[in-house]
Amino acid sequence: MKEIKTIGVLTSGGDAPGMNACVRAVTRAAIFNGWRVMGIFRGYEGLIHGEIKELTTESVSNTIGKGGTILKTARSKDFMTSEGRKKAYEQIRKYKIDALMVIGGNGSLAGADTFAREYDLPCIGLPGTIDNDLYGTDYTIGYDTALNTIVEAVDKIRDTASSHDRIFFIEVMGRDAGFLAQNSAIAAGAEAAIIPEDKTDIDQLKQYIGHGIRKSKNSSIVLVSESPKTGGAMHYAERVRKEYPEYDVRVTILGYLQRGGTPSAFDRILSSRLGVAAITALKEGQRNVMIGIRNGQMVYVPIAQAIKKDKPIDKELIDVLGILSI
Ligand code: F6P
Repeated sequence: MKEIKTIGVLTSGGDAPGMNACVRAVTRAAIFNGWRVMGIFRGYEGLIHGEIKELTTESVSNTIGKGGTILKTARSKDFMTSEGRKKAYEQIRKYKIDALMVIGGNGSLAGADTFAREYDLPCIGLPGTIDNDLYGTDYTIGYDTALNTIVEAVDKIRDTASSHDRIFFIEVMGRDAGFLAQNSAIAAGAEAAIIPEDKTDIDQLKQYIGHGIRKSKNSSIVLVSESPKTGGAMHYAERVRKEYPEYDVRVTILGYLQRGGTPSAFDRILSSRLGVAAITALKEGQRNVMIGIRNGQMVYVPIAQAIKKDKPIDKELIDVLGILSI
Protein backbone atom coordinates (compact mmCIF):
# COMPACT_ATOMS: atom_id res chain seq x y z
CA MET A 1 0.00 0.00 0.00
CA LYS A 2 1.35 3.41 -1.03
CA GLU A 3 2.52 5.60 1.85
CA ILE A 4 0.28 8.60 2.40
CA LYS A 5 1.94 12.01 2.53
CA THR A 6 -0.69 14.30 1.07
CA ILE A 7 -4.46 14.18 1.20
CA GLY A 8 -7.07 16.14 -0.74
CA VAL A 9 -10.34 17.33 0.77
CA LEU A 10 -13.47 18.58 -0.96
CA THR A 11 -17.11 19.36 -0.22
CA SER A 12 -19.67 18.37 -2.81
CA GLY A 13 -23.42 18.51 -3.50
CA GLY A 14 -25.75 20.60 -1.36
CA ASP A 15 -23.93 22.57 1.32
CA ALA A 16 -24.73 21.68 4.93
CA PRO A 17 -23.99 23.51 8.18
CA GLY A 18 -21.00 21.81 9.80
CA MET A 19 -19.11 21.16 6.56
CA ASN A 20 -16.55 23.81 7.58
CA ALA A 21 -16.11 22.21 10.98
CA CYS A 22 -15.43 18.95 9.17
CA VAL A 23 -12.92 20.49 6.72
CA ARG A 24 -11.20 22.03 9.74
CA ALA A 25 -11.08 18.71 11.59
CA VAL A 26 -9.78 16.77 8.58
CA THR A 27 -7.15 19.45 7.92
CA ARG A 28 -5.89 19.72 11.47
CA ALA A 29 -5.95 15.98 12.17
CA ALA A 30 -3.97 15.33 8.96
CA ILE A 31 -1.41 18.02 9.80
CA PHE A 32 -1.20 16.65 13.36
CA ASN A 33 -0.34 13.36 11.71
CA GLY A 34 2.42 14.93 9.60
CA TRP A 35 0.51 14.98 6.29
CA ARG A 36 -0.05 17.84 3.84
CA VAL A 37 -3.57 18.87 2.96
CA MET A 38 -4.75 20.16 -0.38
CA GLY A 39 -8.11 21.94 -0.37
CA ILE A 40 -10.07 21.27 -3.55
CA PHE A 41 -12.53 24.07 -4.36
CA ARG A 42 -16.02 23.65 -5.93
CA GLY A 43 -16.15 19.90 -5.38
CA TYR A 44 -15.43 17.51 -8.26
CA GLU A 45 -15.89 20.36 -10.74
CA GLY A 46 -12.97 22.21 -9.16
CA LEU A 47 -10.94 19.01 -9.06
CA ILE A 48 -11.37 18.60 -12.82
CA HIS A 49 -10.22 22.18 -13.35
CA GLY A 50 -7.36 22.09 -10.87
CA GLU A 51 -8.83 24.58 -8.38
CA ILE A 52 -6.57 23.34 -5.62
CA LYS A 53 -4.70 25.12 -2.83
CA GLU A 54 -2.77 23.90 0.19
CA LEU A 55 -4.59 24.24 3.51
CA THR A 56 -2.73 25.05 6.72
CA THR A 57 -3.97 25.11 10.30
CA GLU A 58 -4.50 28.87 9.84
CA SER A 59 -6.56 28.41 6.66
CA VAL A 60 -9.27 26.81 8.76
CA SER A 61 -9.11 29.20 11.72
CA ASN A 62 -12.43 30.76 12.74
CA THR A 63 -14.44 28.49 10.46
CA ILE A 64 -16.02 26.09 12.96
CA GLY A 65 -19.07 28.31 13.45
CA LYS A 66 -19.58 29.29 9.82
CA GLY A 67 -22.43 27.96 7.68
CA GLY A 68 -21.99 26.98 4.03
CA THR A 69 -18.61 25.70 2.91
CA ILE A 70 -15.38 27.69 2.62
CA LEU A 71 -14.28 25.18 -0.05
CA LYS A 72 -17.43 25.99 -2.05
CA THR A 73 -19.42 23.21 -3.63
CA ALA A 74 -20.97 22.13 -6.92
CA ARG A 75 -22.93 19.35 -8.56
CA SER A 76 -20.59 18.25 -11.34
CA LYS A 77 -22.05 16.71 -14.49
CA ASP A 78 -18.57 16.23 -15.99
CA PHE A 79 -17.43 14.05 -13.10
CA MET A 80 -20.20 11.61 -14.02
CA THR A 81 -18.36 10.88 -17.27
CA SER A 82 -15.18 8.81 -17.56
CA GLU A 83 -13.45 11.67 -19.44
CA GLY A 84 -14.27 14.01 -16.55
CA ARG A 85 -12.88 11.57 -14.01
CA LYS A 86 -9.76 11.10 -16.14
CA LYS A 87 -9.12 14.86 -16.01
CA ALA A 88 -9.77 14.81 -12.27
CA TYR A 89 -7.22 12.03 -11.81
CA GLU A 90 -4.63 14.00 -13.78
CA GLN A 91 -4.98 16.75 -11.15
CA ILE A 92 -4.68 14.20 -8.36
CA ARG A 93 -1.34 13.15 -9.83
CA LYS A 94 -0.22 16.70 -10.52
CA TYR A 95 -0.77 17.69 -6.90
CA LYS A 96 0.59 14.36 -5.60
CA ILE A 97 -2.60 13.62 -3.68
CA ASP A 98 -2.43 10.11 -2.18
CA ALA A 99 -5.95 9.93 -0.75
CA LEU A 100 -9.20 11.85 -1.09
CA MET A 101 -11.67 12.96 1.59
CA VAL A 102 -15.14 13.64 0.25
CA ILE A 103 -17.67 15.47 2.41
CA GLY A 104 -21.13 15.23 0.87
CA GLY A 105 -24.36 13.34 0.40
CA ASN A 106 -25.45 10.36 -1.60
CA GLY A 107 -24.46 11.52 -5.09
CA SER A 108 -21.08 12.83 -3.91
CA LEU A 109 -20.20 9.58 -2.16
CA ALA A 110 -21.35 7.60 -5.20
CA GLY A 111 -18.85 9.68 -7.24
CA ALA A 112 -16.10 8.89 -4.73
CA ASP A 113 -16.88 5.19 -4.93
CA THR A 114 -16.62 5.09 -8.73
CA PHE A 115 -13.46 7.22 -8.76
CA ALA A 116 -11.78 5.11 -6.07
CA ARG A 117 -12.43 1.89 -7.99
CA GLU A 118 -11.43 3.28 -11.38
CA TYR A 119 -8.10 4.72 -10.24
CA ASP A 120 -7.33 2.65 -7.15
CA LEU A 121 -7.30 5.84 -5.11
CA PRO A 122 -8.03 5.59 -1.38
CA CYS A 123 -11.18 7.59 -0.70
CA ILE A 124 -12.91 8.25 2.59
CA GLY A 125 -16.48 9.56 2.68
CA LEU A 126 -17.89 11.89 5.30
CA PRO A 127 -21.71 12.14 5.45
CA GLY A 128 -22.53 15.79 4.76
CA THR A 129 -26.17 16.50 3.98
CA ILE A 130 -29.14 18.01 5.79
CA ASP A 131 -31.27 15.08 4.55
CA ASN A 132 -29.88 12.50 7.02
CA ASP A 133 -30.47 9.84 4.36
CA LEU A 134 -27.20 7.90 4.38
CA TYR A 135 -27.39 4.31 5.52
CA GLY A 136 -25.07 3.24 8.33
CA THR A 137 -24.94 6.52 10.25
CA ASP A 138 -27.48 7.77 12.76
CA TYR A 139 -26.75 11.39 11.83
CA THR A 140 -25.31 13.32 8.93
CA ILE A 141 -23.52 16.67 9.11
CA GLY A 142 -26.03 19.53 8.92
CA TYR A 143 -29.16 17.59 9.77
CA ASP A 144 -29.41 18.77 13.38
CA THR A 145 -28.95 22.43 12.42
CA ALA A 146 -31.53 22.20 9.63
CA LEU A 147 -33.96 20.49 12.00
CA ASN A 148 -33.58 23.33 14.52
CA THR A 149 -34.02 25.92 11.77
CA ILE A 150 -37.26 24.26 10.69
CA VAL A 151 -38.58 24.04 14.24
CA GLU A 152 -37.91 27.73 14.81
CA ALA A 153 -39.79 28.59 11.60
CA VAL A 154 -42.72 26.31 12.42
CA ASP A 155 -43.04 27.84 15.90
CA LYS A 156 -43.46 31.22 14.21
CA ILE A 157 -45.98 29.93 11.69
CA ARG A 158 -47.96 28.42 14.57
CA ASP A 159 -48.61 31.93 15.91
CA THR A 160 -50.29 33.10 12.74
CA ALA A 161 -51.99 29.73 12.12
CA SER A 162 -53.71 29.80 15.49
CA SER A 163 -54.59 33.50 15.26
CA HIS A 164 -56.46 32.86 12.01
CA ASP A 165 -57.70 29.31 12.65
CA ARG A 166 -55.91 28.05 9.55
CA ILE A 167 -54.40 24.81 8.35
CA PHE A 168 -50.78 25.21 7.22
CA PHE A 169 -48.98 22.73 5.01
CA ILE A 170 -45.27 23.38 5.48
CA GLU A 171 -42.94 21.79 2.94
CA VAL A 172 -39.45 20.89 4.04
CA MET A 173 -36.37 19.51 2.27
CA GLY A 174 -34.99 16.01 2.60
CA ARG A 175 -35.16 14.81 -0.99
CA ASP A 176 -36.66 11.30 -0.72
CA ALA A 177 -36.20 11.02 3.03
CA GLY A 178 -38.69 12.10 5.67
CA PHE A 179 -36.35 12.59 8.66
CA LEU A 180 -36.59 16.40 8.60
CA ALA A 181 -40.38 16.36 8.22
CA GLN A 182 -41.06 13.65 10.80
CA ASN A 183 -38.77 14.93 13.51
CA SER A 184 -39.57 18.61 13.05
CA ALA A 185 -43.26 17.67 13.31
CA ILE A 186 -42.59 16.01 16.67
CA ALA A 187 -40.37 18.86 17.91
CA ALA A 188 -42.77 21.62 16.86
CA GLY A 189 -45.87 19.83 18.12
CA ALA A 190 -47.38 19.63 14.62
CA GLU A 191 -50.57 17.71 13.95
CA ALA A 192 -49.15 15.45 11.23
CA ALA A 193 -46.24 14.70 8.93
CA ILE A 194 -46.56 13.42 5.39
CA ILE A 195 -43.41 11.53 4.51
CA PRO A 196 -42.34 9.31 1.59
CA GLU A 197 -41.39 6.38 3.84
CA ASP A 198 -45.01 5.86 4.84
CA LYS A 199 -45.69 3.28 2.16
CA THR A 200 -49.12 2.13 3.34
CA ASP A 201 -51.98 2.47 0.89
CA ILE A 202 -53.79 4.63 3.40
CA ASP A 203 -54.46 8.12 2.08
CA GLN A 204 -52.47 10.18 4.57
CA LEU A 205 -54.57 13.30 4.05
CA LYS A 206 -57.90 11.49 4.47
CA GLN A 207 -56.61 9.81 7.58
CA TYR A 208 -55.49 13.10 9.05
CA ILE A 209 -58.70 14.97 8.24
CA GLY A 210 -60.68 11.92 9.32
CA HIS A 211 -59.13 12.16 12.76
CA GLY A 212 -60.92 15.47 13.10
CA ILE A 213 -57.62 17.36 12.55
CA ARG A 214 -57.57 18.27 16.17
CA LYS A 215 -60.61 18.32 18.34
CA SER A 216 -59.45 20.93 20.78
CA LYS A 217 -58.05 23.36 18.20
CA ASN A 218 -59.15 25.08 15.03
CA SER A 219 -55.69 25.56 13.56
CA SER A 220 -53.23 22.95 12.55
CA ILE A 221 -49.79 22.39 11.09
CA VAL A 222 -48.80 19.57 8.76
CA LEU A 223 -45.17 19.01 7.76
CA VAL A 224 -44.79 17.65 4.22
CA SER A 225 -41.62 16.18 2.71
CA GLU A 226 -40.65 17.74 -0.59
CA SER A 227 -40.33 14.31 -2.22
CA PRO A 228 -42.25 13.65 -5.46
CA LYS A 229 -43.55 10.58 -3.64
CA THR A 230 -45.63 12.81 -1.34
CA GLY A 231 -46.53 15.31 -4.05
CA GLY A 232 -45.45 18.25 -1.87
CA ALA A 233 -47.35 20.81 0.21
CA MET A 234 -49.14 22.51 -2.73
CA HIS A 235 -50.66 19.23 -3.74
CA TYR A 236 -52.18 18.68 -0.30
CA ALA A 237 -53.39 22.26 0.00
CA GLU A 238 -55.16 21.97 -3.37
CA ARG A 239 -56.82 18.76 -2.29
CA VAL A 240 -58.10 20.26 0.95
CA ARG A 241 -59.46 23.29 -0.92
CA LYS A 242 -61.39 20.97 -3.24
CA GLU A 243 -62.43 18.21 -0.88
CA TYR A 244 -62.87 20.14 2.37
CA PRO A 245 -63.76 23.75 1.39
CA GLU A 246 -64.77 24.53 4.97
CA TYR A 247 -61.09 24.80 5.94
CA ASP A 248 -58.89 27.87 5.41
CA VAL A 249 -55.60 26.56 4.03
CA ARG A 250 -52.16 28.10 3.53
CA VAL A 251 -48.81 26.77 2.28
CA THR A 252 -45.26 27.66 3.27
CA ILE A 253 -42.30 26.19 1.43
CA LEU A 254 -39.29 26.72 3.67
CA GLY A 255 -36.74 26.20 0.87
CA TYR A 256 -33.07 27.06 1.03
CA LEU A 257 -33.09 28.82 4.38
CA GLN A 258 -33.00 25.27 5.77
CA ARG A 259 -29.46 24.81 4.47
CA GLY A 260 -27.95 27.98 5.92
CA GLY A 261 -26.90 29.35 9.26
CA THR A 262 -24.34 28.71 11.92
CA PRO A 263 -24.04 24.99 12.77
CA SER A 264 -25.49 23.76 16.06
CA ALA A 265 -23.14 22.53 18.79
CA PHE A 266 -24.24 19.00 17.91
CA ASP A 267 -23.19 19.43 14.27
CA ARG A 268 -19.88 21.04 15.21
CA ILE A 269 -19.01 18.16 17.53
CA LEU A 270 -20.23 15.52 15.07
CA SER A 271 -18.21 17.10 12.22
CA SER A 272 -15.10 17.35 14.39
CA ARG A 273 -15.35 13.72 15.49
CA LEU A 274 -16.02 12.47 11.95
CA GLY A 275 -13.08 14.47 10.55
CA VAL A 276 -10.61 13.12 13.09
CA ALA A 277 -11.98 9.58 12.64
CA ALA A 278 -11.52 9.88 8.87
CA ILE A 279 -7.79 10.49 9.29
CA THR A 280 -7.54 7.63 11.79
CA ALA A 281 -9.34 5.37 9.31
CA LEU A 282 -6.85 6.22 6.58
CA LYS A 283 -3.94 5.59 8.94
CA GLU A 284 -5.42 2.21 9.79
CA GLY A 285 -5.48 1.33 6.08
CA GLN A 286 -9.25 1.73 5.59
CA ARG A 287 -10.27 2.39 2.00
CA ASN A 288 -13.58 3.41 0.41
CA VAL A 289 -15.49 3.64 3.64
CA MET A 290 -17.80 6.30 4.96
CA ILE A 291 -17.27 7.34 8.55
CA GLY A 292 -20.53 7.25 10.46
CA ILE A 293 -21.81 7.47 13.99
CA ARG A 294 -23.93 4.70 15.45
CA ASN A 295 -25.09 4.69 19.07
CA GLY A 296 -22.52 7.37 19.81
CA GLN A 297 -19.59 5.38 18.37
CA MET A 298 -17.59 6.09 15.22
CA VAL A 299 -18.08 3.34 12.63
CA TYR A 300 -16.77 2.54 9.15
CA VAL A 301 -19.40 1.73 6.53
CA PRO A 302 -18.44 0.64 3.00
CA ILE A 303 -19.39 3.58 0.77
CA ALA A 304 -21.19 1.20 -1.58
CA GLN A 305 -23.52 0.23 1.28
CA ALA A 306 -24.06 3.75 2.57
CA ILE A 307 -25.30 4.95 -0.83
CA LYS A 308 -27.32 1.92 -1.91
CA LYS A 309 -29.26 0.83 1.13
CA ASP A 310 -32.33 2.73 2.23
CA LYS A 311 -32.13 4.17 5.70
CA PRO A 312 -35.43 3.38 7.39
CA ILE A 313 -37.39 5.77 9.61
CA ASP A 314 -38.07 4.29 13.00
CA LYS A 315 -41.77 3.36 13.23
CA GLU A 316 -41.67 4.53 16.83
CA LEU A 317 -41.27 8.13 15.60
CA ILE A 318 -44.40 7.80 13.51
CA ASP A 319 -46.28 6.40 16.52
CA VAL A 320 -45.04 9.17 18.83
CA LEU A 321 -46.37 11.87 16.52
CA GLY A 322 -49.65 10.01 16.06
CA ILE A 323 -50.18 9.66 19.80
CA LEU A 324 -49.17 13.18 20.74
CA SER A 325 -51.20 14.96 18.08
CA ILE A 326 -54.62 13.73 19.24
O1 F6P B 1 -29.52 17.10 -0.57
C1 F6P B 1 -29.66 18.34 0.06
C2 F6P B 1 -30.76 19.12 -0.56
O2 F6P B 1 -30.88 20.35 0.14
C3 F6P B 1 -32.11 18.42 -0.64
O3 F6P B 1 -32.80 18.46 0.57
C4 F6P B 1 -32.77 19.19 -1.75
O4 F6P B 1 -33.76 18.41 -2.38
C5 F6P B 1 -31.63 19.43 -2.69
O5 F6P B 1 -30.46 19.42 -1.91
C6 F6P B 1 -31.69 20.73 -3.46
O6 F6P B 1 -30.62 20.75 -4.35
P1 F6P B 1 -30.09 22.01 -5.16
O7 F6P B 1 -29.21 22.79 -4.23
O8 F6P B 1 -29.30 21.41 -6.28
O9 F6P B 1 -31.28 22.78 -5.59
